[in-house]
Amino acid sequence: MKNLAIFISGGGSNMKSIIAAIEEGRIKDAKVQLVVSSSSEAGGLIFAEDKSIKTEVISYKSKPEGKIAAEILELLRENDIDYIILAGFVKVIPAEVVSVYKRRIMNIHPSLIPLFCGKGYYGIIPHQAAIGAGVRESGATVHFVDEGVDTGTIILQEKCPVYEGDSAEELQKRVLKIEHEIYPRAIAMVLSGEVE
Ligand code: GRF
Repeated sequence: MKNLAIFISGGGSNMKSIIAAIEEGRIKDAKVQLVVSSSSEAGGLIFAEDKSIKTEVISYKSKPEGKIAAEILELLRENDIDYIILAGFVKVIPAEVVSVYKRRIMNIHPSLIPLFCGKGYYGIIPHQAAIGAGVRESGATVHFVDEGVDTGTIILQEKCPVYEGDSAEELQKRVLKIEHEIYPRAIAMVLSGEVE
């Protein structure tokens, strides 16, 4: 059994799709042991609590990176965490944590990396950029997390069309549907050893 910690900052729709995939047996031998949020206001916290999953809020405010890293590592140790699943977590994971959890931290990004990603590309911005660039397809990418922003090895990508006259919000909705489908699949691939 692998223990997962899901890190969120907002509504947590990807977190919900992962929890559903575990409940339905599409991700096997895994348990969401902990949900960590960068904000006490994150809507996803209530969902996790309703599912009786332990939650923690971690504040990055006025703390040096070393202290944040120590706090995160302590939480992961206390809860016996094997994998960190970033699902809309808006803060950067400290390098020290990345080095302890090499190839055991995953993230989802709402574009076809290496397009429209990196520092500053979060929320609606990747979709505005895709539409602004006039691309005919976009999509989502699940990747391992390394020391950079959206630079780790790609695990799974899936495309969707960008239609003439699409708004960024319409594209965001289409991509989010793909996210909910590929993130559980990518996690299952990593946990089963199909990807390492
Ligand atoms: C998703 O688009 C994800 O790709 C990005 O942040 C958003 C989080 O959405 N990293 P949610 O909180 O999972 O609904």
